[in-house]
Amino acid sequence: MSFYPSEKIQKRLLRAVKSHGTPLYVYNGDQIKHQYRRFEDAFDFKNVEIHFATKALTNMRILQLLKSLGAGLDAVSIQEVKMGLMAGFTPEDIIFTPSGIGIDEYKEAIDLGVRINIDNLEVLEYFGLHFKGIPIGIRINPHVMAGGNPKISVGHMDSKFGISVYQMPMVHRLVESLGLRIEGLHMHTGSDILDIGAFLQASEILFGVAESFEDLSYLDFGSGFKVAYRENDIETDIEELGKALSQRFKTFCTAYGKDLKLILEPGKYLVSNSGYFLVKANWIKQTTSNVFAQVDSGFNHLIRPMFYGAHHEILNLSNTGEKSRVYSITGYICETDTFAVNRVIPEISSGDILCFLNAGAYGFAMSSNYNSRLRPAEVLLEGKDGMTLIRKRESLEDLLRLQVF
Ligand code: LLP
Repeated sequence: MSFYPSEKIQKRLLRAVKSHGTPLYVYNGDQIKHQYRRFEDAFDFKNVEIHFATKALTNMRILQLLKSLGAGLDAVSIQEVKMGLMAGFTPEDIIFTPSGIGIDEYKEAIDLGVRINIDNLEVLEYFGLHFKGIPIGIRINPHVMAGGNPKISVGHMDSKFGISVYQMPMVHRLVESLGLRIEGLHMHTGSDILDIGAFLQASEILFGVAESFEDLSYLDFGSGFKVAYRENDIETDIEELGKALSQRFKTFCTAYGKDLKLILEPGKYLVSNSGYFLVKANWIKQTTSNVFAQVDSGFNHLIRPMFYGAHHEILNLSNTGEKSRVYSITGYICETDTFAVNRVIPEISSGDILCFLNAGAYGFAMSSNYNSRLRPAEVLLEGKDGMTLIRKRESLEDLLRLQVF
């Protein structure tokens, strides 16, 4: 499959803009289905559970779509848990892996009956003292440096996440003295992990820890699978990884004497390349050293380039002609908000529609109202011609709704 959207999809994107204006997020539901099936097929093991990382794209209609495909959810806040339940997931379908939350949020999660992973010894002790008998999982920190950049590398020694593998003696002490029921182990080492070697290395550490627990029912390997951000970019070879991990998991289960569940929590892999962020060029501004294409958005709508230095390919959907120029693409926020520099793009004129690729994951989900800007609408494409508005554009009333004046 080509990295770039087909001509047909490009036409549908322009139609979506015609109906709903810009800035606009559009997701191709068929692409999400494709990614889900490919992921599912890569794991040759009957007990695999795929839990979508809700934080990547938190739209109820997308959650319902993933539910219809057979997914569960990875939730990190009680709000994500509640939205998951409202979208039709059962408590069993939801694994709650928060970090640093207060005890009241844990209590709500217990009352709602979802599976809980704990990533702090103090919380573990609290659970043993106050919530005896509730089965829980433990998030371990394998001390592996993995992830596309330091901000999204979370399994290393200095990271706030997980309980260190070297603290397992303390974990066992708590388990034995407080009668804790440990049903699963979890790890998540980072996002955009470049090579599957790092992933498998961390998995070995999880297997090593798992041997010392008597009655586990799942091992959760988190996610971090990399997608391509440019044509021919490295991406996780999910088939190779799936084969290697399934094989190793089977061997582990045989040695452990029980068939455990193999859980994974992909976010980007399932939705990143299904998403398009569409903006309009307001002006072209020639300065002494640059040609800026100024668009009707900013880091309030897509923060990944500014926050992580992430690369998103940008297409000019209004002009696919031969003549290109070198542009810096900037937004309308009153602060530096550069989406891209020195991009060769077919000539841009005021009013042209530009399209950011890979905008499905952590795009809308990380948007804000900075500069009192309204957040975009979201549209879902499905089937041959289906186009559904799945979130309305915000209005000034939405912005003011909770203000008291
Ligand atoms: N499981 C846990 C516990 C996580 O914390 C995450 C992501 C995932 C699964 C899904 O990881 P993914 O498949 O999406 O790589 N905002 C950043 C990514 C932050 C990831 C946070 N945790 C970005 O836009 O690159």
